Amino acid sequence: MKTIGVLTSGGDAPGMNAAVRAVVRSGCEKGMRVVGIKRGYNGLMYGDMYEMNLRSVSNIINRGGTILYSARSPEFKTEEGMQKAIDICKKEGIEGVVVIGGDGSFRGARDLSLRGIPCVGIPGTIDNDIACCDYTIGYDTAMNTVMEMVDRLRDTTESHDRCSVVEVMGRRAGYIALNAGIACGATTILIPEVEYDFERDVIERMRRTQKTGKRHFIIIVAEGIGGVGEMAKRIEEITGIESRATVLGHVQRGGSPTVRDRVAGSLMGFKAVELLEKGIGNRVVAMKKDDIVDYDIFEALNMQKQIDLDLYKIAHEISI
Ligand code: ADP
Ligand code: F6P
Repeated sequence: MKTIGVLTSGGDAPGMNAAVRAVVRSGCEKGMRVVGIKRGYNGLMYGDMYEMNLRSVSNIINRGGTILYSARSPEFKTEEGMQKAIDICKKEGIEGVVVIGGDGSFRGARDLSLRGIPCVGIPGTIDNDIACCDYTIGYDTAMNTVMEMVDRLRDTTESHDRCSVVEVMGRRAGYIALNAGIACGATTILIPEVEYDFERDVIERMRRTQKTGKRHFIIIVAEGIGGVGEMAKRIEEITGIESRATVLGHVQRGGSPTVRDRVAGSLMGFKAVELLEKGIGNRVVAMKKDDIVDYDIFEALNMQKQIDLDLYKIAHEISI
């Protein structure tokens, strides 16, 4: 391929810039023309793009967000939207596209590949909810942000002998909640993958730890469960322990990426260009253990991923 495009789509994630940088640098080094497409599939439909060079991606590896901007673009899901994108690719001579995003973005990449524009997906989402990957770009930074924020909350929660009920992101998945919950020493972690009983898993656990001398409590609740305001009220009513709810929200999506996210983004960006260089499209690049592998997008979208239930059990056993 002589010309490739790169875009970031869906929710942004720290480390996306490292992936963009790797795509641009390795593409240029292989003698390709690399076009940066702005605001995800919107830029592809409306021709909002620019030619990038080695220096366009200087000083971005350390930056959160995405220099290409991101968007959710419902129009792209329509037949007309898809056709607009294909027409722009033809007009601009774009022969392949690297799509950095979550599984929604991969569905778009699959549709484009089916229509003759080979695409390679790179998993970029803080949620770590892409089935074919052990790890997605942004996950580590988001967990570290949660840990830092909850450490701060713990200071004030402890000073006031209170209970903090904290909602963390993850869409329908509990990966951030489970792992950050362990790192924060949460008394209880509630995730959508595991059914819970409020009395048994929240109130009883608090009472048990209270008997051992504990006077402040951190409850981590995944966004897929939600309702932290109501939960804090109920805890206070039932136990008499003053409780406060905190929704950490979009702060979890920002910040300078960790080493792990910078390295993962760099390696996956490099691999995506290697595939396109060989004319291979309709693939998703993934991390399995410490290896970089790739899968057919159709297969990747049909895979299932199970949260580690042993980890969930251990988390609760050691937080009592
Ligand atoms: P993420 O990539 O983080 O999962 P979204 O689900 O919002 O985020 O998807 C990002 C974009 O990918 C959407 O705005 C849309 O343009 C495109 N997309 C999502 N689902 C599909 C689909 N089924 N077919 C084609 N494009 C899709
Ligand atoms: O997928 C990343 C994510 O931050 C989810 O954790 C969350 O549910 C969603 O995106 C929020 O989306 P938006 O930025 O559109 O509010």
